[in-house]
Formats: sequence, C-alpha cells, structure tokens
Amino acid sequence: MPQHIAIIMDGNGRWAKKRGLPRSAGHVAGAKTFKSIARYCNKIGLKYLTVYAFSTENWKRPEDEVNAIMNLLRDYLKDAENFKDENIRVRFIGDRTPLAEDIKALMEKNENDSKNATGLTLYIAINYGGRDEIVKAVQKIVDSGVKAEEINEQLISNNLYTHGCPDPDFIIRPSGEYRLSNYLIWQSAYSEFWYSDVLWPDFTEKDLEKAINDFSNRNRRFGGI
Ligand code: IPE
Ligand code: IPE
Ligand code: MG
Repeated sequence: MPQHIAIIMDGNGRWAKKRGLPRSAGHVAGAKTFKSIARYCNKIGLKYLTVYAFSTENWKRPEDEVNAIMNLLRDYLKDAENFKDENIRVRFIGDRTPLAEDIKALMEKNENDSKNATGLTLYIAINYGGRDEIVKAVQKIVDSGVKAEEINEQLISNNLYTHGCPDPDFIIRPSGEYRLSNYLIWQSAYSEFWYSDVLWPDFTEKDLEKAINDFSNRNRRFGGI
C-alpha cells in the first residue's frame, strides 16, 4: 500500500467533447470524481493524496474555461463545511497570489478548519508548477542568507510547498497522456508511475484499486539492487 498517491486529474475536456458537451461540463464531472476518490482514499486509510487541479500553465486556456474551473473550486471550498465529519485534512499547494481574494480566504478557512483532522491529508494543487515551486524555494533559501555549502537536498525539500509531506510513492495519470506536465518534479525522483486510458471523470474506485494492486507488486530499488 502506498503512503502517498499523487493524481494528475486529466481528460475532463475530452470526456465532455465525446458527449458533445462544453469543456466546463467535463470539469463538473471531474470534480465529482475527485470528491469520491478523495473519500475512498480516506476510507482505505491512505495517509496522503495530492491532486493536480490547476497548473501554472493552465492560465493559457480561454478565460471562460479558467473561470469555470475557479467557480468549481469556489463551490468545493464552500461545500467543505458538509464534509467536516470526514476527518480529512486539506492543504493547498501552489502560488495563491493571482487567485481571487474570496478563494484565498476560503482556502485558508478550509486549512484552518481541518488542521486537526487525523485521517487522509489531501493536498490540492492550484496554480501549481514544479518549476515555479523550485524557483520559489531557491528564492527563500537565498533570502535566508544560508551559505552555499549549507544547501542540501533536505533544505530544498523543506522549502517546497510540500514540506513535511513524504514524496509520492505512486503517481497516477489517466487520460492516456504519458508526461508529468510540471507536476511534483522534485518530489517524483523515485515515484512509481501508473498510466491509464480512462478519462478522469470515468475514473472509479475500481481503477484506483487496480492501480494500487499493481503498485504492490513492484520492486522498488532506489538505485540499489
Ligand atoms: C484536466 O482535464 C483538468 C485541468 C487541466 C484543469 P483537461 O481539461 O486537461 O482535459 P483534456 O486533457 O483537455 O481532455
Ligand atoms: C495537467 O494537465 C494539469 C492538470 C491536470 C491540472 P494538462 O491537461 O494541463 O496537461 P498537458 O497540457 O496535457 O500537458
Ligand atoms: Mg489535459
């Protein structure tokens, strides 16, 4: 059983296109899948789940699509009240600076309200980019005035958005794409990967179960023998 699963929630647009629906309908369906998969991960006792919801590159999309995604995020954050009894600790990773003020406030509220939860820790990546994360970590390190020889891997890890969280053991990308798209590029150094042609809105607990089964049969060597 992995300790930390990271998912690239991809394929919402193609799911909608296949049905002759607007891309935003794919994001609505994807958000539903996200909620049920997060709940399932909590139920099976997973410690950490990180989901890629919006990348630093996704601002390139048409404004109405970006707005639709931001509105879904807003709804989710408001809705979170209803899931309080689920014992899920929610954290957000990524650069919040350009987000709407009300969304930033809701993100903080969700983090605060859930900070003592002892079940799944759910990281939601919003305006997240792995390269941006590393640039910001380097800036913080330089600002702190440490000497070059004091810089090591641990110090860099400690200055990433994910500080305190173990690296993902397992990265899942549905939708038939075989790339990281700037996701957790530092943290994924030794992650196992799992790809699938299923589009994210169609992704089920069964698919996750299958992936975890596959993971449990892998031989991780970390450079050893
Ligand atoms: C993932 O689905 C959601 C986000 C990137 C926000 P896409 O919207 O990328 O779906 P496809 O890849 O176009 O099908
Ligand atoms: C990665 O998916 C980002 C999220 C799922 C949030 P994209 O759809 O943006 O990735 P590319 O553009 O296909 O690499
Ligand atoms: Mg995509």
